Amino acid sequence: MTDVKSKPAPSRRAFLKTATGAATLAATTLHAPYILAQPSKVKVGFLLPYTGTYARLGTAITDAFKLHVSEHGGRLGGREIEFVQVDSEANPAKATDNTNRLVNLEKVDVVVGPVHSGVAVAMVRVTRESGTLTIDPNAGAGVVTGALCAPNVFRTSFTNWQPAFPMGKVLADRGMKRAVTMTWKYAAGQEAIGGFVENFTAHGGSIVKELWVPFPKVEFQSLLTEIASLKPEAVFVFFAGGGAVKFVKDYAAAGLHKSVPLFGSGFLTDGTLKAQGDSAQGIETTLHYGDNLNLPANLDFRAKYHQATGREADVYAVQGYDAAQLLRVGLEAARGDVKAKKTMIEAMESAEIDSPRGSFKLSKAHNPVQDIYLRKVVGMENRVQGVAHKALADPATGCKMA
Ligand code: PHB
Repeated sequence: MTDVKSKPAPSRRAFLKTATGAATLAATTLHAPYILAQPSKVKVGFLLPYTGTYARLGTAITDAFKLHVSEHGGRLGGREIEFVQVDSEANPAKATDNTNRLVNLEKVDVVVGPVHSGVAVAMVRVTRESGTLTIDPNAGAGVVTGALCAPNVFRTSFTNWQPAFPMGKVLADRGMKRAVTMTWKYAAGQEAIGGFVENFTAHGGSIVKELWVPFPKVEFQSLLTEIASLKPEAVFVFFAGGGAVKFVKDYAAAGLHKSVPLFGSGFLTDGTLKAQGDSAQGIETTLHYGDNLNLPANLDFRAKYHQATGREADVYAVQGYDAAQLLRVGLEAARGDVKAKKTMIEAMESAEIDSPRGSFKLSKAHNPVQDIYLRKVVGMENRVQGVAHKALADPATGCKMA
């Protein structure tokens, strides 16, 4: 699908120099008798968190997106790519203004973002209206590819329901009957817990109690004490980024990991293992990615990402890389004419993305149909134990494509 495998990874220095150098070099080696007008660059606007509990997620997405562009000499579909970055701060209250800034002030051709579901809802309300091509590389809010779905809005990540739903059956199949859930009280947490509970109760489980924490607070202590006294057979949570690091450490420090096994959607242990250390060992989660997937696209991507950034790849990097792959498919089909939206959209809709997670296609609602893996933390790796749910599609409730 992609030709990245045949190309050597750019060195970290070359990668950091951005796309501009490569384009200048190409222009000076042209032997044209006169100077042709250079088409303007395609402007990609990132609306991602670079501060706060999700800062590392935004950085991973940005770096991996740029990596794919730099593997293609700084160009997609023949057009040089330039980037504008806006810090979303994972703050829904600022999301409308931030999106308007990218769309109306910066006049970007494509918006790539966000991480936070609340930001996504506000962002999509703006970009559906303006018709700006939008690729969501993380935020899982169901409505983005549900009631708010639109021809110009794509997602390369998941819906919050998607990676959590399979764990309900995994635990019920183990004979577990009583679970406690805990999460941040906002769309991502609510929808993830909803997915888990739906499948767990459908297979005979019951929920002892649902516990909630305001986003992005990390004061978990009193609720951990409550879990200890409730004595469930399992705890299922959604936390991510800095909050996930703190939660897993607090859970172990309270000694709970010895009496009540902890489960979650895989964000709980993704991109976090170095900081969580021993406290994460043995935790099982479900997600559409696993570090040790033995696929050429994964081995290749992990090596190149590590070489370019000095960090290990994680699910966020994979989603950012795939967002760039999807944009490349669109721009190649339109031969770089970013205004040829119909051509771009049609190509993106039928794309098969050779992702490090395994190759996937998009549903009619523009959300990945993908395998959800059962993983276990072993050392510094989220190791795949098997496929918990094959080719899982979000139900996309309420999506009516115009
Ligand atoms: C979300 O808000 O949709 C979200 C944030 C972080 C994650 C997953 C989902 O890791």
